[in-house]
Amino acid sequence: MPGILIKNGTVVNDDAKFVADVLIQDGIIVDVRPNISAQDYPNVRVLDATDRLVIPGGIDPHTHLQLPFMGDVSCDDFYSGTRAALAGGTTMIIDFVIGDKSSSLIDSWKKWRSWADPKVCCDYGLSVAVTAWSPEIAEQMKALTGPEYGVNAFKFFLAYKGSFMIDDSSFLEALQHCSKIGALARVHAENGSAIDNKQKELLEQGVTGPEGHTQSRPEELEGEATNRACVLAEQANCPLYVVHVMTKPAAEAIERHLEKGNVVFGEPIAAGLALDGSGYYDEDWDKAAGLVMSPPLSREEDTPQALMDRLAKGLLHLTGTDNCTFTCAQKRRGKTDFTKIPNGVNGLEDRMSVVWEKGVHAKKIDEQRFVAITSTMAAKIFGCYPRKGRIAPGSDADIVIWNPNCSRVISVDTHHQAVDYNIFEGMTVHGTPETTICGGKVVYEKGTLNVEGGSGRYVPFAPFNDFVYAPLASRGNLFAPKKVERLQ
Ligand SMILES: *[C@@H]1O[C@H](CO)[C@@H](O)[C@H](O)[C@H]1NC(C)=O
Ligand SMILES: *[C@@H]1O[C@H](CO)[C@@H](O)[C@H](O)[C@H]1NC(C)=O
Ligand SMILES: *[C@@H]1O[C@H](CO)[C@@H](O)[C@H](O)[C@H]1NC(C)=O
Ligand SMILES: *[C@@H]1O[C@H](CO)[C@@H](O)[C@H](O)[C@H]1NC(C)=O
Ligand SMILES: *[C@@H]1O[C@H](CO)[C@@H](O)[C@H](O)[C@H]1NC(C)=O
Repeated sequence: MPGILIKNGTVVNDDAKFVADVLIQDGIIVDVRPNISAQDYPNVRVLDATDRLVIPGGIDPHTHLQLPFMGDVSCDDFYSGTRAALAGGTTMIIDFVIGDKSSSLIDSWKKWRSWADPKVCCDYGLSVAVTAWSPEIAEQMKALTGPEYGVNAFKFFLAYKGSFMIDDSSFLEALQHCSKIGALARVHAENGSAIDNKQKELLEQGVTGPEGHTQSRPEELEGEATNRACVLAEQANCPLYVVHVMTKPAAEAIERHLEKGNVVFGEPIAAGLALDGSGYYDEDWDKAAGLVMSPPLSREEDTPQALMDRLAKGLLHLTGTDNCTFTCAQKRRGKTDFTKIPNGVNGLEDRMSVVWEKGVHAKKIDEQRFVAITSTMAAKIFGCYPRKGRIAPGSDADIVIWNPNCSRVISVDTHHQAVDYNIFEGMTVHGTPETTICGGKVVYEKGTLNVEGGSGRYVPFAPFNDFVYAPLASRGNLFAPKKVERLQ
């Protein structure tokens, strides 16, 4: 593979920004300093990054490619999804294994590997969902944290009663188990029972359209479940990662627990940073149904801004997409019953630009924070830093040449995803990925993709990752049992 020399760009890491050239050989960054002479490296390709930023490729910690869900399979598979990701400046994804309850977690993990490996165009890692609880499942979780499988995070659903949802006492035991095996607990926090009741009521009252989706999921139910997850994780001394923080009550719950010194991470997603939930009332059924995801977009207009403010302050930590796309035809399965509309929206391709627009362009965050919340923080939380998420010698050459002065309009007509609509349709973003380098290879430039399915690698993660576990060791002492010795 010929090397690459990126000249005259401004390198941005989460903690520094400086003008330097970047030399890449054999898929690895080998040098970062000013004035690397192209003449010294006659066989490298020189890319001009004058007036551009040179940033670590994005890491999307939350995708669901080709997920079998609600009687269908999400339409972007590991090829079209990762290909679209690269066009948007994302060079790694973390997807979720969500097997059916009759299979062991290990068999499900193998199934996901067999789907992903031949198709992925960028590196990827996996988290595994735990949707039931038993001693066997605990054993399988422990095995999955071994180097052979490389899983250090498990996901729990407090929503989707009757399918993925786990009850509170099982959840607490599972959190205690995670703490023992050094895993991070990721949680979808909504009160599934309350939602189930609301859904039935609404359907009985004749509210069958997508507006029922938001009405069945009041924001307080996300806030309540987020708080509950934080409380139980604290009791278990387990690090917690709240996926898709969509509302202020949920963000406030996380803030309260951060203040207490708990280890909790909050992940808003591109959709929630760009849109509110007014679209659920759109008269066009397809448009409204296109926004159906759980938790739903917020009822309050100022929530997207409030979420970005919290990312700026470090009260929320990183951005994902929950990318799980279903076509209009797939969404129409729920034409007469909103509870049957497959949940999920796009975002993988547009996340970087949307976060740039709402964060940097809106002057809420600087470029270093942008890098932190789109890439570095994910690498640290899952323990692949500084291999990923940093531009420095020794790191993987997953790099984006970002043009902060180029705008584009997001549209289904130009996106690379398989899905046939785009929830960000018509949004202008200032700041675009101009060139994407993945594994030392230019995979996207001048609007053209040059990818190869199967070229991505699986990235194993190790348990007891210091970034999340070090603070817990000392906190564990706080909770150590105390016994009073009495004379009788
Ligand atoms: C890089 O080279 C240019 C031109 O030779 C020189 O003006 C500049 O000072 C050098 N910069 C550094 C940091 O060495
Ligand atoms: C980088 O900047 C130097 C100094 O301004 C210039 O001589 C050189 O042509 C530039 N290289 C590229 C590839 O743009
Ligand atoms: C981007 O545009 C702004 C305003 O037009 C300008 O001040 C800035 O220098 C430009 N940045 C780059 C990197 O070209
Ligand atoms: C969730 O809501 C149900 C009401 O449907 C309630 O019984 C339950 O206590 C709630 N869960 C929690 C932990 O608050
Ligand atoms: C979302 O998933 C869909 C289908 O899997 C895919 O087409 C699309 O590219 C993805 N987008 C994002 C942002 O993940």
